[in-house]
Amino acid sequence: MPEYKVAIDQLREGVFIRLDLKWFEHPFLFSSFKITSQEQLSILRELGLAQAICIPEKSDVLPLSHQQSSPEARPQTTTPVHAAESAEARKLWEVKKERMERLKVRREKDEKCEKQFRESVAEVKNVMQNVEGGSREAFEESDRLMQSIVASLMPEKESAVQLMNTTFGKENVFFHSLNVAVLSMMLAREYGLDSEMMRILGLGALFHDLGKSRVPKNILHKAVPLTRAERNFYQLHPRYGIDILSRLDMVPSETMRAVYQHHERNDGRGFPEGLPAGKISLFAKIISIVNVYDNHCNRYNPQDSLTPHEALAYMFGMQKAQFDSDLLALFIQCLGVYPPGTIVKLSNGFIGMVISVNPRNPLYPSLMIYNPEIPRKEALIYDLMEEPDLKIEHSIKPSQLDQEAHDYLSPRTRVTYYVAESEAAQGESHRRLP
Ligand SMILES: [Fe+2]
Repeated sequence: MPEYKVAIDQLREGVFIRLDLKWFEHPFLFSSFKITSQEQLSILRELGLAQAICIPEKSDVLPLSHQQSSPEARPQTTTPVHAAESAEARKLWEVKKERMERLKVRREKDEKCEKQFRESVAEVKNVMQNVEGGSREAFEESDRLMQSIVASLMPEKESAVQLMNTTFGKENVFFHSLNVAVLSMMLAREYGLDSEMMRILGLGALFHDLGKSRVPKNILHKAVPLTRAERNFYQLHPRYGIDILSRLDMVPSETMRAVYQHHERNDGRGFPEGLPAGKISLFAKIISIVNVYDNHCNRYNPQDSLTPHEALAYMFGMQKAQFDSDLLALFIQCLGVYPPGTIVKLSNGFIGMVISVNPRNPLYPSLMIYNPEIPRKEALIYDLMEEPDLKIEHSIKPSQLDQEAHDYLSPRTRVTYYVAESEAAQGESHRRLP
């Protein structure tokens, strides 16, 4: 049944409505919602609106017929919208204001995280170029960087994997290396590895493709299938990587092993050795999963990229045999069904983009909400942990968005993550159960 206009006095609990008001003109958290209490009904009457829009497909019941609605319930006046001043309405306004305050804090925190990320990328660029040239100092520097990321991932901290505001460009290889390092260390933490192991793994992840610097760019970026000779050349990059690192004479052996084995596969069909699962190091198995995920999300031609949600589904559905199944399941568990960077439709009809997830609470990510009534800079961010009535219905391809929604959410051409202290750090006690 299509949506239709209905008089306010015909509304009742269970009816899903949309208000024909700007977001700032009413005290409700959303302009569309299901009526769940008598208080909401009385606030709706106080707003002095003549009508709301009923959305039957989301309603539990239909509005009352005109005869059924009680005359007392009908608005007696056409009070201006801002006159909704009952105690209930004031309470809602306060909640809304408090939310805006928290949003401000959240935005500041996100900006700080983004700044740290940019500094880390610049550092990665610097160390990678110098490690390639044989600089031991650069390697020590990268070790310090890994330690600082490990510190922000300590088990006692609630960390969130957060989407960064990056676009595809020349720095792509550095974003890729840092992204693989961050996600590998996050996965290692959830697997139960200690900080020392995480650091050694992080170095392997950071330098996994170091050897690509010796492979011609036309082979690395070739769109059509590689010839046998080109493929052989490409498959040498893990070996080139450990050649470069071994010259430093200070790289942990497990870091080297991870670099060398990051293209080995659990089904024995990887390279350079085609090792069976039992001979592949745990670190290499971790890096291999994250590396493939990042490559799916960030293909050389951005139009070919999968959404984060599709990438996980593809890996689980089509590529399962090449990974360690426990690690893959843990990786999916950490990122959630809708990893950061996924555009989703919510149960209240809104469209949002997942911007962060706490690996320990992946069912309740944070989302940036598309709402043309609110300037983009002040976009609402909802933490699903605090919205028991709100559910993700399904993911949406960025190409399915209209231009306005697309520009508002600006889906990143590059999906890159960094770690931030989680908004949900307060944990379960914070959560209102449905
Ligand atoms: Fe590689």
